[in-house]
Amino acid sequence: MTEQPNWVSEAWQQVTQKVNRTSKTIGANFPHASENGTYILAEPHWWTAGFWPGLLWLVYQDTKDAALKQLAEECEAKLDTVQNEYYRLDHDMGFMWTLTSVAHYKLLGNEDSKRRALLAANLLMGRFNVNGNFIRAWNPWTEGEDNSGVAIIDCMMNLPLLYWASEETGDPRFKSVAKRHADTVLEHFIRNDGSVHHIVRFDPESGSKVEALGGQGYSLDSAWSRGTAWAIYGLTLCYHYTKEAKYLETAKRVAHFFISHLPEDFVPDWDFRLPADIDSPKDSSAGAIAASGLLLLANQVTAAEAPVYKRAGEKILESLFRNYGNWEGSEEGLILHGTSHFPDGKYTDNPLIYGDYYFVEGLARLKGYKELFW
Ligand code: GLY
Repeated sequence: MTEQPNWVSEAWQQVTQKVNRTSKTIGANFPHASENGTYILAEPHWWTAGFWPGLLWLVYQDTKDAALKQLAEECEAKLDTVQNEYYRLDHDMGFMWTLTSVAHYKLLGNEDSKRRALLAANLLMGRFNVNGNFIRAWNPWTEGEDNSGVAIIDCMMNLPLLYWASEETGDPRFKSVAKRHADTVLEHFIRNDGSVHHIVRFDPESGSKVEALGGQGYSLDSAWSRGTAWAIYGLTLCYHYTKEAKYLETAKRVAHFFISHLPEDFVPDWDFRLPADIDSPKDSSAGAIAASGLLLLANQVTAAEAPVYKRAGEKILESLFRNYGNWEGSEEGLILHGTSHFPDGKYTDNPLIYGDYYFVEGLARLKGYKELFW
């Protein structure tokens, strides 16, 4: 294990104790946002389904607690019904099966998990639009809605499932699709200043760009902090798998935008670019995602560059631990003050399961765990 900041072992102890306690109430389910100390459960089809089992695997790799392993396995098995419901599957298959099946396969070599993850990778690859070189994000949300040309920045975290599938099978098709989608992101999503668009709509026939949309941020030209975090981490993973400098250069540019917009407590607001009269809520989940990504980025750059990203990742995680951690008692949810969907008014000051997951992942990275589920 590498040398770790002195608060990390205290934080890890809090995490393991709390996860042990709350695993007894959450069980083999799919929590999303916690309200009044209890996680509201989502359907297994929802994009967040992988985070609780993924978090259980993160703790299991350290404690080898068989009860946590069993819950993670039960969650994974429940996702089989989702895999058979074609119409409800969207691009978030990457999030869902990376943190369940790929994690299980990488840790314990489970062959059923490998099969499930490869099936998910094939289904994800099937969403690739060859005219516009993008992975279609969503299915229609409402009857008759046409989402066939929509791609979103979050998909950068779905690409690792494709890179993994190519490494695992020796078949380059998955990786080619991932790279082509990532190149579209470089061209159409990343702004010169390192901020990002959440949504870009393409003409699904001609493949040309139609428009960018504000999505979960404040407006078209604002800077949604979680989208920025998805870009940092996803681009860093693209570099990790391809070693193509353009992904690293862009990951660094987006990271510089993110770091330079952090407030005094190092935990971002929901959007970095807001009119002065808007009282922005925090999004602790954006901080946790970016922190874990920044720590990985620190391992990909030169020794001279690394401290910038490492220090920023550590500062964010330490602030989340000390100022946002919910460690006492049996309340579910580790990290307070996440914002799920501000424009829709959904969960704007809550623990979010992905904030919890990435906080624990970042902490595990600081403890020296090198296994990359992504
Ligand atoms: N992937 C959806 C979100 O970040 O809220």
